[in-house]
Amino acid sequence: MGHTDLSKAAELIAGAERAVALTGAGVSAESGIATFRDADGLWDRFDPEEVATAGGWLAFLIRKPWEGMEFLRGLRDAFAEASPNEAHAALASLEAEGHLGAVITQNVDGLHRLAGNREVVELHGSFGRRRCSSCGCRERVSREGFCEELDTMIAKLGSYMVHHPAHLLRRCECGGLFRADVVMFGEPVQGLGSALEHAEGCDVMLVCGTSSVVYPAAELPERAKARGAALIEVNPQRTELSARCDVHLAGAAGEVLPELVEAVRRASVAA
Ligand code: OAD
Repeated sequence: MGHTDLSKAAELIAGAERAVALTGAGVSAESGIATFRDADGLWDRFDPEEVATAGGWLAFLIRKPWEGMEFLRGLRDAFAEASPNEAHAALASLEAEGHLGAVITQNVDGLHRLAGNREVVELHGSFGRRRCSSCGCRERVSREGFCEELDTMIAKLGSYMVHHPAHLLRRCECGGLFRADVVMFGEPVQGLGSALEHAEGCDVMLVCGTSSVVYPAAELPERAKARGAALIEVNPQRTELSARCDVHLAGAAGEVLPELVEAVRRASVAA
């Protein structure tokens, strides 16, 4: 990452009327949660069409309990211990210091809120909630509660006696079945209206740790740019979006973002 690029990004943020961030799995990588599309990522090991569609995931668990247990253990191991890293902390500092209006995230780990960001749009939902598939009501789930539910599902699958989703999932008072309040492939994202408002109302968008290939999230920087916003990308790799960014800061978010926060502070004092 060049010094000039860092200064340019910092000046853009310090001078912005309204900056927002769009984040993806790369921001949580340094918290120990594997990304989806990098080598050894989740989609390297499991077929998203099989394990992450609304109609398919339960059938997968029931049809292939052994693989299902692997998948659920992977989720539990990744999320049980994960805590916010330097990248999350930096984004929380930017918001607290008045330089960031919102974080729009594709991540379902809840780490932005845990780090202290208050205005967070969770486009793909959160493992911190469960939702009834029938009445649609939502309940908060603690990290411990989430892990306990996964352990219970793993134990049930291990008994090889699961033949129906009702054997695996908790019931809501209405009689429907609860599931994690996350967005699966083929389902509408959450908070899209609010995300579009942020994207179309910002003059700087900081795009961190996303491959920018999953829509509609990938459309948000395009919408922002179409309205004249500057795009800053933080990613160790170049992505589909890189060519259209005003600044590309190459590096891990946990290293680059804290440096960016310091540079924004310097730029704000100098202004
Ligand atoms: P991907 O796995 O597609 O992309 C992760 C990006 O993070 C890549 O561009 C990496 O280069 C970058 N990266 C890796 N380590 C990094 C680090 N330490 N700092 C910064 N960047 C790093 O993840 P997403 O773009 O978030 O959706 O994927 C979008 C959606 O696809 C996910 O929300 C999920 C997935 O299928 C659903 O499950 C609906």
